[in-house]
Amino acid sequence: MKHSTHARRAGIARALIPLLLLAGGLAQARPQGDEAAVVESLIGRMTLDEKLGQLNQPPGPDNRTGPEAEAGGLDQVRRGEVGSFLGLHGAARTCQYQHVAVEETRLGIPLLFAGDVIHGFRTVFPQSIGEAATFDPAAVERSARISATEAAAHGLHWTFAPMVDVARDPRWGRISEGSGEDVYLGKALARARVRGFQGGDPGPALEQALRRDDTVLATAKHFVAYGAAEAGRDYNTTDMSERVLREVYLPPFRAAVEAGAGSVMAAFNDLNGVPMHANKSLIEDVLRKQWGFDGILVSDYTGVWELVKHGVAADETDAGVLALEAGVDIDMVSDIYRRKLPGALREGRVTMAQIDEAVRRVLRAKYRLGLFEDPYRYCDVQREAQRTLTPEFRQAAREVARESMVLLKNEGNVLPLSKDKIRTLAVIGPLADLGKAMIGNWAGDGRPDEAVTPLQGLREALGPEVRILHVGGAQIEGDDRSGFDQAVVAAKQADAVVMFLGEHPDMSGEASSRTRLDLPGVQSQLALAVQAVGKPTAVVLLNGRPLTINTLQENLPAILEAWYPGVEGGRAIADVLFGDYNPAGRLPVSFPRTVGQVPLYYDHKNTGRPIRLNANGTEEKYTSRYLDSPNTPLYPFGYGLSYTQFRYSAPKVKHPTLVAGQAQQVEVTVSNIGSRAGDEVVQLYLRDDVASISRPVRQLRGFRRIHLEPGQSRTLTFVLEAEDMAFLDANLKSTVEPGTFTVFAGGSSEAEQEAKFEVSAK
Ligand code: NOJ
Repeated sequence: MKHSTHARRAGIARALIPLLLLAGGLAQARPQGDEAAVVESLIGRMTLDEKLGQLNQPPGPDNRTGPEAEAGGLDQVRRGEVGSFLGLHGAARTCQYQHVAVEETRLGIPLLFAGDVIHGFRTVFPQSIGEAATFDPAAVERSARISATEAAAHGLHWTFAPMVDVARDPRWGRISEGSGEDVYLGKALARARVRGFQGGDPGPALEQALRRDDTVLATAKHFVAYGAAEAGRDYNTTDMSERVLREVYLPPFRAAVEAGAGSVMAAFNDLNGVPMHANKSLIEDVLRKQWGFDGILVSDYTGVWELVKHGVAADETDAGVLALEAGVDIDMVSDIYRRKLPGALREGRVTMAQIDEAVRRVLRAKYRLGLFEDPYRYCDVQREAQRTLTPEFRQAAREVARESMVLLKNEGNVLPLSKDKIRTLAVIGPLADLGKAMIGNWAGDGRPDEAVTPLQGLREALGPEVRILHVGGAQIEGDDRSGFDQAVVAAKQADAVVMFLGEHPDMSGEASSRTRLDLPGVQSQLALAVQAVGKPTAVVLLNGRPLTINTLQENLPAILEAWYPGVEGGRAIADVLFGDYNPAGRLPVSFPRTVGQVPLYYDHKNTGRPIRLNANGTEEKYTSRYLDSPNTPLYPFGYGLSYTQFRYSAPKVKHPTLVAGQAQQVEVTVSNIGSRAGDEVVQLYLRDDVASISRPVRQLRGFRRIHLEPGQSRTLTFVLEAEDMAFLDANLKSTVEPGTFTVFAGGSSEAEQEAKFEVSAK
């Protein structure tokens, strides 16, 4: 359908409004007035069925994100049974549905089209965990901004992102969708993504931004504690103290809400026995009352129905009652509100006021997106084409991908490879030419064949003069070693070898938990066989979670973590391998040595028996440790190498003593003492040395990604606000206690340069 047709129709409809109003009112008349006037006048005129239709979100024909479910169709829209769709894309198609909703239903309420635009729509950016590794909120915001622009051009109003679940268990496949293990980083990136999707900060800027044709409503998900699924098994139970919930799992949601997120999605898990879709105290009391969230609370896919499976609802009606009562506004896929709430209302188990409140939130979102003003704002097929995978978007994807890569090891400076010296390059491994491994999981409408694979990227970078020997060598999984010989032969002929190893993208993401974290199949053995040839060899990892790669760490000289780097991944990888870009990504999550250490995170408590060395240098037996593994990770949070070196001065605190509640300033001087320009992620950690509640050994309290030329130094100032020094006391009240604090500055969570300051009582 052409935009001009829409415009004409819309114009005709507008011209007809006065006539229609005179004739007694008809569907197409656009409601007038401010938000409350529009919303309340509609609610006043809606039938129960129309109200419940607004709360119903069936899957659309493009949906493929959960168990099979019947897609909602145009007839359902016509009958007023749908308020929003999940997974119905494309300017033409969404507008076909929108026309029916606006022109063929009694009240003409526009539909919302929602989808999972997590790390890109068609221009796929690095998987979220990789974006987190940039430690660059501006880059992450830019990625979200472009994703929103593209998704909106394809008819979407609403994304189910950002995923802000803190995740400390790499067995959980969804660790790939979030920002990793840390609360502070998670909060910063939650804000960046919300701002990027929605286009502005709360207040008039956001109000205006949401009415533009290049913004989408953001969703902070999954509320809450989903990342703490027991044993890393997806959808599993969570059980935790109120303190951990408040200190670790809730803060990124609060940050997203404060950044103006238009919606929040309930999580699949039960928390301390109460499934989140029935968790009134967290949804109503914490999210809505304490934090003032007034947006939409959307269920997860069949989340309402699953209350029956959780065993807290006897049947579907029970489930609908519990969810509505808890504050869930939209019923995604279960179709329980629409079918079962009329009976529950008759029986007095829910009230019309409760239903109205949920409808109000849905209509408010539609109003805020400007859909009552112009339901066809997202309907321009020309704009859709113009805003898809543009060279500018691709360039941005390449830049973010380069920033996301983490150099884990580089012994003997194997990297960067010199383009001038290589006549033959062996490119080995099952992931070297797999488009899907560029775009990863949750790749929106991304297409593997639009992604530049590493093989293509390397070819392009080296040009036709250089011979590339491409050998798979092994499958991602399975024990077939029949390709090893060919890989070894290729390595022998080459001047250098690059191996692409990792996981298939379907091995992380939703419903993709693993009990093992090693490189699947015989990939480690392939790496050893190839390394034995003795050529300069680098491994590039493509994966969505921390892996236990001790074999690689012990035997291979160079390892680059590239995650799933997006449509421009192959080019970005080539940029890094050949030194056109100096890598500076940092791990947003600890890499364990063995799955037995999980959960493993840097901001742990000290315990009463931290590891202590005996006089002879061995570890004292009666300490908190393992017999068969060090406690430390293989690579810590915040870690990543560079092709240059940086030196840190000891941090300088402005106030050696301050009064509780006051802010502190810390200066850190960083110098590039190597011979290449590069970025450094300067990190600041804080420890409350003595407190009434045991505190983590250190916590990230500031970070900045900066660029330094060789020989250049910069002094950065970090501000530590009172809240950075605060913790929850025994009554769970936020407090700053008098006593000493230690500040650490450096390039990882193992930063050693330190300073102390003292906080005195008020
Ligand atoms: C289930 C997932 O948990 C959620 O993250 C996603 O947004 C919905 N499916 C819709 O696709």
